[in-house]
Amino acid sequence: MEYEGLNEARELIESSSNVVFLTGAGMSAESGVPTFRGKDGLWKKFKAEELATPEAFQSDPKTVWEWYDSRRAKLRTVRPNAGHYSIAKFGLRKDVNIVTQNVDGLHKKAGSKDIHELHGNIWTVKCTRCSKKSENYDVPIKILPKCECGGLLRPGVVWFGESLNQKILSRSSEALSKANLTVVVGTSGLVQPAASLAMIAKSNGSKVIEINLNKTPNYGLIDLFLIGKAAEILPQMLSE
Ligand code: OAD
Repeated sequence: MEYEGLNEARELIESSSNVVFLTGAGMSAESGVPTFRGKDGLWKKFKAEELATPEAFQSDPKTVWEWYDSRRAKLRTVRPNAGHYSIAKFGLRKDVNIVTQNVDGLHKKAGSKDIHELHGNIWTVKCTRCSKKSENYDVPIKILPKCECGGLLRPGVVWFGESLNQKILSRSSEALSKANLTVVVGTSGLVQPAASLAMIAKSNGSKVIEINLNKTPNYGLIDLFLIGKAAEILPQMLSE
């Protein structure tokens, strides 16, 4: 399928030396990872305040861990899609950074480098007592998992009401300040501060392309909008 705006996008891509991809759940949709909003989104079936807040974990860590365990079980079965792979391949010939809200680790699995995971990674755990972070790929995970210090482990992701990791945020902002081109892929643009990053890129002089199934709140600031699936558009847009 020939997408409207594809040739213009390819020209922008080829004339840019430094590109940032700002990705959200739509990036992994074709891998079979559910998005959060939209008709089949996770937040249609589950209540974020009962599963993805520090208060929810404090009052009912078992329910929260069971939900993360079920998501980890699902993620264990999925693979990066053609969109993830095309970004990884593109990173071999241009200076590429990926700033993602996804916790699924699929950009890394596809072979990309310089990935900034704003909302953490579902394959990490963090101790609620000593704050030590570690990787954990157990599926199913032992509920309730404990740190060697005896403290309760929690998922190593950022929940509603929590601040983003400042180092990751500042590395993301630095990458965006250098970008000639920012490609916003598959995010509803509703969750802050991630949602402001496209605006920051634009005000730093970057061109902005967006790929999504629908228009988003970014629409007013972008230079070029491509409507369609990330896993189909990205490989065509990024091929040499
Ligand atoms: P959302 O679920 O809010 O939005 C997904 C976006 O992807 C929507 O704009 C869809 O139109 C678009 N989309 C769906 N399928 C697509 C496809 N195949 N190709 C291109 N676009 C597609 O996901 P995010 O914006 O990533 O945070 O959500 C942001 C944060 O909200 C998440 O990181 C998570 C969630 O609550 C936390 O849990 C802290």
